[in-house]
Amino acid sequence: MKPRLQLFLLLFAMQTLGLSAGSFVETMSDGWRFHRGEAPVEVAEALFDDSGWDEVRVPHDWAIAGPFDPAADGGTGKLPWQGEGWYRRTFDLPDGHGDRRVTLDFDGIMAFPVIYINGREAGSWDYGYTGFRIDATPHVEWGKPNTIAVHVDTRRWGSRWYPGAGIYRKVILTVSEPVHIARHGVQIRTNGDELAGIPPNVVTVATRVANHLEEQAMIRVQVRLLDPEGSEVAASEESVTVFPERERTVSQVLEVAGVRRWDVDDPVLYTAQVTLSQGGKPTDQTDVQFGFRTFAFTADDGFHLNGSRVQLYGVNLHHDLGPLGAAFNRRAAERQLEIMQSMGVNALRTSHNPPAPEVLDLCDRMGILVWDEVFDKYDATAGRPDLQPPLPEFGRRHIREMVLRDFNHPSIVVWSTGNELTGEDAVEGINPARVQMMADFVREIDDSRPVAQGCHIQGLVDGKNFAGLDLGGWNYDRRYMNYRRQWPHRPIIYSESASTVSTRGYYEPDLPLRRIDRSPTLQVSSYDLNSADWADVPDREFALMEQDRFVAGEFVWTGFDYLGEPTPFGDDARSSYFGIVDLCGHPKDRFYLYRSHWRPEETTVHILPHWNWPGRVGRNVPVFVYTNGDSAELFLNGKSLGLRRKAERPKHPQNLALDGRASASSESEGRPAAAAVDGNLNSLWSAAANDRSASFRLDLGGIVGIQRLVIDTDAKENAYAYTVEASADGLNWKPIVAKPTRPYPKWNGPTRAFHDVDTESRYLRLTFSESTQGHHPGLREFAVYDRKSDNDYYDVTYDYRLRWNEVAYAPGQLKAIAYRDGRAIGEAMVETAGEPVALRLTTDRSRLSADGEDLAFVTVEAVDAKGRRCPLADNQVTFEVSGAGRLNATGNGNPLSMESFAEATQRLFFGLARGIVRADEGDGGIITVRVNSAGLVGGSLELTSAR
Ligand code: GAL
Repeated sequence: MKPRLQLFLLLFAMQTLGLSAGSFVETMSDGWRFHRGEAPVEVAEALFDDSGWDEVRVPHDWAIAGPFDPAADGGTGKLPWQGEGWYRRTFDLPDGHGDRRVTLDFDGIMAFPVIYINGREAGSWDYGYTGFRIDATPHVEWGKPNTIAVHVDTRRWGSRWYPGAGIYRKVILTVSEPVHIARHGVQIRTNGDELAGIPPNVVTVATRVANHLEEQAMIRVQVRLLDPEGSEVAASEESVTVFPERERTVSQVLEVAGVRRWDVDDPVLYTAQVTLSQGGKPTDQTDVQFGFRTFAFTADDGFHLNGSRVQLYGVNLHHDLGPLGAAFNRRAAERQLEIMQSMGVNALRTSHNPPAPEVLDLCDRMGILVWDEVFDKYDATAGRPDLQPPLPEFGRRHIREMVLRDFNHPSIVVWSTGNELTGEDAVEGINPARVQMMADFVREIDDSRPVAQGCHIQGLVDGKNFAGLDLGGWNYDRRYMNYRRQWPHRPIIYSESASTVSTRGYYEPDLPLRRIDRSPTLQVSSYDLNSADWADVPDREFALMEQDRFVAGEFVWTGFDYLGEPTPFGDDARSSYFGIVDLCGHPKDRFYLYRSHWRPEETTVHILPHWNWPGRVGRNVPVFVYTNGDSAELFLNGKSLGLRRKAERPKHPQNLALDGRASASSESEGRPAAAAVDGNLNSLWSAAANDRSASFRLDLGGIVGIQRLVIDTDAKENAYAYTVEASADGLNWKPIVAKPTRPYPKWNGPTRAFHDVDTESRYLRLTFSESTQGHHPGLREFAVYDRKSDNDYYDVTYDYRLRWNEVAYAPGQLKAIAYRDGRAIGEAMVETAGEPVALRLTTDRSRLSADGEDLAFVTVEAVDAKGRRCPLADNQVTFEVSGAGRLNATGNGNPLSMESFAEATQRLFFGLARGIVRADEGDGGIITVRVNSAGLVGGSLELTSAR
């Protein structure tokens, strides 16, 4: 919509509300010009000719179009987000309203914006993830066009993920009467006490009234509470005197009978309509949504909502929207949440920053509980590379901004002041005073919700470090146990769990022995057996959450792939592998694993992998089935491969070393060689201090066939180089293992190494040749097996998945029938597809609003002559969009792809690509989407957009 038309409509709307002419609110989406790079400050002048600059729509992310720089840092996505940019726009103000106030609200600018109005600096902001208001009143001219110029500079911004760049959230211009409601000026509390069983039916509405008149004003504050159907259920009126250039808070208490609760499965929302008037004339009005609910985090029984225990099935989400980048779009966010909810999600952690405000509106409406987080660390990722401004000022200001803005959302149940801060004072890490101070900044505004942090260093639990928090948020590896011992009366949330990694559609039939094993392809096999080295596969977290009922639930890292942080490949890739859903919104296999566990009453039957393995006929391709059933039978080309039941764990062979005799070149006090063959990982053999090339020897008592050695070293195994030799007589030795050191992983990492060998021997001898980082030679356990078997770490996966580890591949049809309590509940099938012959297009929605914002997510897949999806297709496809919309972005979900999201072409990635189509603003019409690819029959579909 053209700014003038919008202005007219808004004026009209304000007048019909009874507000006087001249007040209006306008979302400034179009009409912006953008220049990338440095420019003299004169570009802020009203007269500057910006006709050569790009026309852009806000929200805008200048870096998302790329190009990707393969040599750039993978952690922030290899995109050009660092640098300077300028935005300009004009707006008209009506004549004759010179006593009005003019403000600009920016929801988020990355980063360090300086705002100029008509060439004069009007304000600046120092945190990329919170919003701010500029009072433009002293700088504007009435009855004339006014110019806003915004300088954005991300050069000093630090990030551990892709932050985006530019005016990436919405901008609102408000012209108000001198008497108006202050920014974030309405706070609504509902009483009620979850633990005492007191229902919430009393509402306190606190309104901050601002008076910019030169004289004191008698202001009437009228509050009407409306039920979800819009009928008034309570009302109150109060008059106050407000001194000139002052604000005053008016609290009104209202009672509502027959309250309907906001809950995760029935998110009922009420509205508080607050109207100010002076001398009988309305001067300002706002509608605020809120909900009635009680909740409590308990120390022994997790989270309770409205009187019942609710297990949190949560995900962490970063703020980027994949191919759309950081530029906020409501429909894209809504779609993410819809996909998450369809998997069973009922909770969201906005890692590690306050989200766009629309996300919280969506959570309110959809019934998703929220952990709202203000910062990651307090360093460059908070925009403080030099730790300035001082934390007491900076922390308080941004915490206030988050808590005041988000106060009324019934979905929010936790405030968080940070994530994974260290104990180091040099970076303003954790100490008792700092933790307390930041939490108290929250409590100054809201003492009704608990304050937490995402924590990860168990050692910091000792002492009083966390005394200032109400709730322990702990990341990974059941680290919350230490906290529980120290603070047994404090509730706990598993604020980051899993960090499983996978690439959609990519499978390696040789299953990993360890979760940290990496593939040279720079992709991660989608059998869901790999994780970051500090983290775990989903099943282990499921088991913990079932066992540790005192924990409120888990927040998986992460629901969607995001730009940056491509663990475990660092700078070799550009986007994450953590997502349960890929960067473009295509679910990975894990989606169905979570769904099967989180939505036990919904039928899920999902088979993996795909069934196109040319070149592997007769060789093994493991098959997994994810289902909410308790068992399933698998058929290959009609022949049963057997019925599997959950909780049937594999049997592991006997460790032959337990009966052996161990000796060593040296032993340190209390750490004898025998400790490495006692079956206990907590006891160890350690060489004497000066014995750097120590050796360990095992006599198995007789000659035995040996297929596998499983060796647990004292410290992480990649720090050691050693050899293992075997001998039948103890005199003649032959080398069977030569293990080097490896740099990966840098931290943590398993102590366990697996070695496949093939020998018949009585004696084994391990000799250390190198140990990095000063680690000392030593063994926790030296285990010997006569056959290969899986790492017992994966035993837990048999409780939640059905696994056929040995399936001789033959092309054709693979089918699973799932059962629950002996009854068939559903089936799934994968088939070997032929060569791709055509493209098929589908869309998430075919009717869009012609508002310039609404999106359709179009999926492109290659299909064979029988219409079956081709899971290996990698054809280059080209989009063409015509009519009442345009192609907004493309993508394919490949974390390695360097193809720009802004181009009309993408290579199919394991059979799929995505096109995101945006409806034009206007009268609407038909939007035609065509996709072509050389040698294939193209596909097309039509969307309709309407006002
Ligand atoms: C956590 C951190 C997250 C993300 C994650 C990846 O330690 O809090 O921001 O980096 O690891 O596993």
